[in-house]
Amino acid sequence: MPQSLLIITGHSQGLGRAVLDHYLAQNDFQILAISRTKLEIESPRLTQLSVDLSELPVLEEQLGDIFPTGDFEKIILLNNAGWIGEIKPIGNLQPKKLRTQVNVNLLAPMYLTNAFIKFYKTHQAQKIVCNISSGAASRPVSGWGGYCSTKAALAMFTLVAAKENKSETFHFYSLAPGIVDTGMQGEIRDSNESDFPEIEKFKSFKEENKLTSPEEVALKIEKLFRSPDQFKEVIQDVRSFELN
Ligand SMILES: NC(=O)c1ccc[n+]([C@@H]2O[C@H](COP(=O)([O-])OP(=O)(O)OC[C@H]3O[C@@H](n4cnc5c(N)ncnc54)[C@H](OP(=O)(O)O)[C@@H]3O)[C@@H](O)[C@H]2O)c1
Repeated sequence: MPQSLLIITGHSQGLGRAVLDHYLAQNDFQILAISRTKLEIESPRLTQLSVDLSELPVLEEQLGDIFPTGDFEKIILLNNAGWIGEIKPIGNLQPKKLRTQVNVNLLAPMYLTNAFIKFYKTHQAQKIVCNISSGAASRPVSGWGGYCSTKAALAMFTLVAAKENKSETFHFYSLAPGIVDTGMQGEIRDSNESDFPEIEKFKSFKEENKLTSPEEVALKIEKLFRSPDQFKEVIQDVRSFELN
């Protein structure tokens, strides 16, 4: 069976875990998965790297060596790891936490996208780079200064990469996953109303079962990866995807 390759960050829980489980169930994908946490999963098709994506020198050292080679049909980079960051108004943010957030949410996926393009540019495979975005990339949310800014900047980086690599073998996406029932939503609900004025709305999403399951979002992401020719725009939101 022809092999394809998925490189995913933030596979240890939440949305990334659901995407990982989905592709582990397919026989035709090799997976390189990067988080701080390694999962207790043994599969000949899974390679896990424990990397703290906020530690940029570590990432810089490893970047040259991480990309698998092979006669792949499709090669996907899913930059999914992300951190909501310190939920506080600008003026009360701790610089070190802000730096960690910028590194994880923005610089690490920029490094990986850059290195991925360089490494696979001449590979004949269909290549997909999908950077997970958020509705917060295009809407200022009080208390989420670092989060909104890093997601907005990553979306622009993705647009530039797409403009520079207009070829039939490359597809670039900045994908908003909707409001997903993960640990990140728990962190949001655990914040304070004085720091995050929208907290009640987010608590009610959970109480009223309005959160999407990570498994459903993983299926929609798979649809994008299966048929990228049907998705022409770089900026995408899974809430507009129909599952069929
Ligand atoms: N949940 C939502 O409603 C929602 C909405 C819009 C966008 N998103 C985006 O969707 C993506 C996935 O979020 P999620 O909700 O699944 O979050 P999550 O449950 O908190 O999972 C975050 C993942 O990122 C990894 N990660 C965090 N910091 C890292 C670091 N320093 N180094 C390496 N990996 C790190 C975590 O792994 P380790 O802890 O093992 O390192 C974990 O696997 C994020 O980009 C998020 O911004 C989520």
